[in-house]
Amino acid sequence: MSELSVNHLLGIKYLNEKDIELIFKTADHFKEVINRPIKKVPSLRDITIANLFFENSTRTRLSFELAEKRLSADVVNFSAASSSVKKGETLIDTVNNILSMKVDMVVMRHPNPGAGIFLSRHVNASIVNAGDGAHEHPTQALLDSYSIRERLGEVRGKKVVIVGDILHSRVALSNIFALKLQGAEVKVCGPKTLIPKHIESLGVGVETNLKKAIEWCDVANMLRVQNERMDISYFPSTREYAQQFQLNKSLLESLDKEIVVMHPGPINRGVEITSQVADAENAIILDQVQNGVAVRMAVIYLLASKINR
Ligand code: CP
Repeated sequence: MSELSVNHLLGIKYLNEKDIELIFKTADHFKEVINRPIKKVPSLRDITIANLFFENSTRTRLSFELAEKRLSADVVNFSAASSSVKKGETLIDTVNNILSMKVDMVVMRHPNPGAGIFLSRHVNASIVNAGDGAHEHPTQALLDSYSIRERLGEVRGKKVVIVGDILHSRVALSNIFALKLQGAEVKVCGPKTLIPKHIESLGVGVETNLKKAIEWCDVANMLRVQNERMDISYFPSTREYAQQFQLNKSLLESLDKEIVVMHPGPINRGVEITSQVADAENAIILDQVQNGVAVRMAVIYLLASKINR
């Protein structure tokens, strides 16, 4: 198979295992490209991409922009905070105005779950979901699995625990879909109040004891508590959260094996993870960021090859 089964990347839910294999094979090629002295290829010289960010971002926004520029696409950036959205313009009007300037692809981060799906039904462009509320963050999950594959050889059969605020996390949901699709075993771990009811129906285990979860896993993906999505308290205090769910050196040293430590960022050092652990050799946090560019190049390249112009 040399093309994706989808015309948009709205969520991992819509991909199959072959799609993920194709994205990773293509990313392998682009990873080699971005490590050359000349990091650019002319593949998308005739493509224009708009990056629409209605929510804050550092890694994803910069990573998409770099990926697009490395592929020689023309790039326009839009930030809701400084746009006419503030004057009451709707999402569809905003995007259609941008598309009338002959834009082929839209990369969008939005606080509302399903915003990308909605847009894909109303506008004539390829849509890439760069995070929609607490729903999905598909490119994050792809770069996470790609980084596990790079460090451990393959994803199939690996035991991955996702720790923290699962309830509000688009990273958790996309990772669960991606890891299960590739044959990994997945558990989630966190306070009961931050684990969605019925999450087992996605084929994942639940563990509320961090030590047991860490003893079980090959990979721990540590998540931030997403205070910006909370309107009530889900645990007594940050100090008590850290006492129970922080990954620290003494916990790692109590193991009779080495595990891979991941974090999608942004990190709250001293809460879900200590600096000592985040900066250690078995933490692949910056590898994840580096791989994000190659993986996003692959996604954009493969979607662009499906655009009818
Ligand atoms: N991982 C991630 O989505 O980070 P940003 O919010 O900085 O894009």
